[in-house]
Amino acid sequence: MPQATLKELEELVWKRLAEGAGPGLSPFTMWQLATAGLDGAPQVRTVVLRGAERATGRLVLHTDLRSAKVAELRREPRLAMVVSDLPNYRQIRIEGRATIHAGDEVAQAAWAANRPHTLILYQTPYAPGTLVASPELAQPPAAVSGAAGFANFAVIRVALERIEYLDISPGAHRRAVFYRGASSWSGGWVAP
Ligand SMILES: Cc1cc2nc3c(=O)[nH]c(=O)nc-3n(C[C@H](O)[C@H](O)[C@H](O)COP(=O)(O)O)c2cc1C
Repeated sequence: MPQATLKELEELVWKRLAEGAGPGLSPFTMWQLATAGLDGAPQVRTVVLRGAERATGRLVLHTDLRSAKVAELRREPRLAMVVSDLPNYRQIRIEGRATIHAGDEVAQAAWAANRPHTLILYQTPYAPGTLVASPELAQPPAAVSGAAGFANFAVIRVALERIEYLDISPGAHRRAVFYRGASSWSGGWVAP
């Protein structure tokens, strides 16, 4: 089978990102998001990819405004994310800069597009990470109550600066990087 050119690979990467952000579960849905903690130590956690816009070079995540990652990204907007498709030996890593949207038009549009079972997550009584005497105390309510929760809802927009694709399929190891330039993306092969 002929190998993809760099240009074809760039297309493929955006296709995978779009799949990950689309409905249903794909190997590119759940990412690990790394931030610089407030004390400088690295922090990492799982997040769902909610949007991937090739035209703007942006990814979209949703989170609780009260969560630690929001404070971390407000202090240091640079972040890294990684996802892997283990059965197919593939990994995508990205580097970018986060902008937090809460209570604005971006957050409103995302909130309106969310499904009710997702909205409930933002109505939990305690901020994520708060010490609680038992798990029961921190459960979300049984039903969505109007716009309650919107105050805790945030969109993280990630302006991508670097995308890296690694494929370590047996016999065909390939690693490529794509960088955002002033007006377009450039890319190249690197040793895996
Ligand atoms: C399968 C899965 C999906 C998750 N998706 C998200 C998500 O989309 N956004 C989010 O903020 N947290 C998500 N979480 C929870 C985070 O991993 C994390 O525990 C939480 O956001 C608190 O992180 P922080 O204290 O570092 O901010 C998810 C967790 C799991 C296990």
